[in-house]
Amino acid sequence: MCGIVGYVGPREALPLLMGGLRRLEYRGYDSAGVAVQQDGALQVMRAEGKLDNLAAIVSAHPTAGHTGIGHTRWATHGRPSEQNAHPHVDCGGVTAVIHNGIIENFEALKAPLVAKGHRFSSETDTEVAVHMLEEELAKGRSLDEAALAVLPRLEGAAALAFISSRDPGKIVAARIASAGGVIVGFGDGENFIASDMPALLEHTRRVVFLEAGEVAVVTKDRASFFRTDGTPLQKAPQTVTWDSVAAAKSGYKHFMLKEIHEQPRAINDTLLGRVDRGSGRVVFDENVKLTDEQVRALSRITLVGCGTAGHAALVGKILIERLARIPCDIDIPSEYRYREPVVTKGQLLLAITQSGETADTLAAMEEARKRGARLLTLVNVMGSEASRVADDVIYLHTGPEIAVASTKAYTAMLVDLYLFAIYLAQRRGAIDQERSRRLLAEAFHFPTLVDAVLREEPKVRALAYRYHTARNFLFLGRGVNYPTALEGALKLKELSYIHAEGTAAGEMKHGTNALIDEDLPVVAIALRDSVYKKMRSNMEEVRARAGVLIAVANDDDDEITGRAEEIIRIPKTEELLEPVLAVVPLQLLAYHIADRRGNDVDQPRNLAKAVTVE
Ligand code: AGP
Repeated sequence: MCGIVGYVGPREALPLLMGGLRRLEYRGYDSAGVAVQQDGALQVMRAEGKLDNLAAIVSAHPTAGHTGIGHTRWATHGRPSEQNAHPHVDCGGVTAVIHNGIIENFEALKAPLVAKGHRFSSETDTEVAVHMLEEELAKGRSLDEAALAVLPRLEGAAALAFISSRDPGKIVAARIASAGGVIVGFGDGENFIASDMPALLEHTRRVVFLEAGEVAVVTKDRASFFRTDGTPLQKAPQTVTWDSVAAAKSGYKHFMLKEIHEQPRAINDTLLGRVDRGSGRVVFDENVKLTDEQVRALSRITLVGCGTAGHAALVGKILIERLARIPCDIDIPSEYRYREPVVTKGQLLLAITQSGETADTLAAMEEARKRGARLLTLVNVMGSEASRVADDVIYLHTGPEIAVASTKAYTAMLVDLYLFAIYLAQRRGAIDQERSRRLLAEAFHFPTLVDAVLREEPKVRALAYRYHTARNFLFLGRGVNYPTALEGALKLKELSYIHAEGTAAGEMKHGTNALIDEDLPVVAIALRDSVYKKMRSNMEEVRARAGVLIAVANDDDDEITGRAEEIIRIPKTEELLEPVLAVVPLQLLAYHIADRRGNDVDQPRNLAKAVTVE
């Protein structure tokens, strides 16, 4: 999704803007641009494609200036091109705008401007905002006054930032409706804006998050805040804990590989402080405000999440139903928001989202809230919209996840869902002390167990190199590992662009069997658990049709030897925690196949890290 950066202060703005944009590359983009105030005029440079294209233009046109904005664009209105890249400028090239999101009423706003003679040079919805601003500035207004006159007329979900050579040394940034974050970062005699924390971490950790309908007017010495109706606001900076070291590659070839290897640490961090050693009870911090009485009164839990977070939701349903005996259902947020869902008394919506900014997930939360559900979110990014609108928040505490493909956030989601299921079960008396003690003890082995799986990487890499030219892949799982099969397929297709399907193995005979032949690699998650025998039969069905079997099996399973072309071994664990271990070789498989194919692993084509548009 689009990324926004801005700087105002004594330093040269351009290198800072380019550095900030580099930090936002992970969000996914197709073009980029910068605008810098220089000697009473604006210098605007833009390029289609990767940031290196923009960097080449920037180095050919050295520009000195101390106020500027920069943008990475992920096309919504208008194809990816230099012409559609942001910043967009008004007719006189005096004022520039960058924008993340969609201005839904842009056509209605554009018509009168065109009639007045404004010349539009892009196909974007964004450009309308800067021509509207031009009208207001022509009335002798300052940039902030002009912005406050324009912003209430824009409809949709958007974050915007403006600079103008008419009003130098100032950035106006705004957040309209919920999607599209804006963060103001406070330095010493200098200030920043950004859509995401990684662009700020190297400069400051003192930040203010703009809420929907808020505007920041930022100069080098201060930031003032307003509602879009002009009412002044007091907002105190908060200090965030992520550091820039965590947001760098640390010697790994890609962020994704680094994040896969960070999983033992990430699991450890997410477990930290969540079990009271004395009572053996799961405890969350003050961000979870549910009382024991409210937990006992829960009648149903609806779990929602997109993509990988949706697969975590599927596992969560199994965990909560098995341990806490609360009926659960699963919904895809983009469906839930439009299907007029029934919400009954005592219903909880559990929204799972790494970024906390996914537009569909936020809309599902809003819909559930309207219908009277309590909202709990499982989220990684502190201060994100999901964390602000939910009644209860469980933070994943995995540190920033930069690669578009989610890995460490997924396994942390699974571990937190496991803890949450035990938390519910303990408070509802659905589990005895001995069983919960055993389940929790197993979770604390996980950093070591995941480490053991990671040691299988050379074997998985060799497999990846053997099968990287396959045109299709099938992933089979049952029970708690059916979502693992879906996640394995999603990882592979998003990174390698190989068509992949995940299927509940028992469903194969109802259609998918027709795909099996000697060219189809079939990854079967066949762990020694309650569905092991069933899974083994499904593997035989594949063998009978000459499919190429790759099994993920337990390291003590001799029976499976000779029953698959390839076997990846993982340690035996409690069945409900198996998905945490089983997904790791599948992450590595997808990573190495994509890398072998020469793909852009951290920023796969057509995808974005935080999907802030519908
Ligand atoms: C994960 O690999 C995907 N890129 C994607 O499915 C992602 O999980 C989804 O867009 C949801 O994101 P969120 O967790 O930030 O809400």
